[in-house]
Amino acid sequence: MSIQTSSPHFDHLIEAGRVHRTLYTDGDIFDLEMSRIFGGTWTFLAHASELPKPNDFVRKRLGKRPVIVTRDRDGNFHGLLNRCTHRGATICRHDEGNARRFTCPYHNWSFTNTGDLAAVPIEDGYGPAFDKQELGLGKLRVESYRGFIFGTFNTELPDLKTHLGPSAALLDEWLDRWPGAELQLRRGQTKFSCAGNWKLIYDNAADGYHPGYSHASLLRMRKDRYGGGVDMQWALGNVDEGLQTVSDCGNGGTFIDQRAEIKRFWDQSAPMPGESAYERVIKEKLGDKADAALDVVMGSGMNLNIFPNLLIIGNQIQVIEPQSVNKTHINWYATALVADDLPDEVNSLRMRLQEDFPSFGEPDDLANFEECQIGLEIEEVEWVQTGRHLDTGKEYIGAKGMLSGPVSDELPLRVFWKEWLKRIEQGNLGVAK
Ligand code: FES
Ligand SMILES: [Fe+2]
Repeated sequence: MSIQTSSPHFDHLIEAGRVHRTLYTDGDIFDLEMSRIFGGTWTFLAHASELPKPNDFVRKRLGKRPVIVTRDRDGNFHGLLNRCTHRGATICRHDEGNARRFTCPYHNWSFTNTGDLAAVPIEDGYGPAFDKQELGLGKLRVESYRGFIFGTFNTELPDLKTHLGPSAALLDEWLDRWPGAELQLRRGQTKFSCAGNWKLIYDNAADGYHPGYSHASLLRMRKDRYGGGVDMQWALGNVDEGLQTVSDCGNGGTFIDQRAEIKRFWDQSAPMPGESAYERVIKEKLGDKADAALDVVMGSGMNLNIFPNLLIIGNQIQVIEPQSVNKTHINWYATALVADDLPDEVNSLRMRLQEDFPSFGEPDDLANFEECQIGLEIEEVEWVQTGRHLDTGKEYIGAKGMLSGPVSDELPLRVFWKEWLKRIEQGNLGVAK
């Protein structure tokens, strides 16, 4: 099949139960995605705890665009294109910092952290038509929901909370596991580089079919060592006979709910280094509240995926950063819960657990992403299957009015591709004024 990427229509590549392999391998399609998907819808940029003080900033990417996310002196967030309006140089060359202004190193044009052009050296070299107000940095429309900062060029979208739909309520459930606690991203990240298309990572995040096979060695080792019932062993065997579900959160968002399989979070947690010493201290400090605190140590039993790049997994968040059609960076951020009534040992233990899956489980997934990319390059086998449970009659309207199904349902793939098609066909968008 030859692909007409100049055509505005891609629906011939997406069928009810399958999609065309070139969606993962065609460089022209990748370039369109970076313009139309990333920034064409509400796209995750940063978490408020990465820029906690007035005038803090972080450097990020939105698709292939370099962007700066700033917090102004009044605490409001801004998303600015990191591109000098003079001759195009990036103006910010640090990953993070604190600055009221950004000065371009090339000819020293200087911009405020809200994006206005503030000063131009030897300004009388320009004639009367020169208007600094017209030459501010390109701006994104930016909103945040409970510390999660998103940006878009799309002025047609509803406000962020409306757009998130049921995902907002699920985010509340994830954040409110310890009432009153503030979520903070830990400094630093676990960064993976993968020789695979970015969508393979999103596909996998709501794939309840794979864990018992892809991660079999990890799960079986733990079963042998620690006995049944700990650490996701509900993923072994026929998962469709279990209690997990997958759901459509709307606008490309998807959710795996494992919580019905977890009776006591702490008791079902895999052992971690130093666990008994931390547990003893937490029990001494918290008394009756210790069991509840130990439960927030363990992963949440929730996998919430917010199209196109934010994956909430257990207690962590993962951000997908596409680099090219067959290369993706995957950034895992650990989180801490900060509250006066939560001792530090709770976050120490959370950290031990958050070191666990990226180290022992993610390599299984990375190997499959890279092997999928190799397989998908074969031209003679054209289609990728997305039809599991499409026509078995097992889907139903579940919690929060979401279409739901058994956990091995490929509903999340179908939800993704529906949103992908909508966004890719909307065309390119301009910057917000
Ligand atoms: S390119 Fe930025 S000041 Fe000239
Ligand atoms: Fe996995």
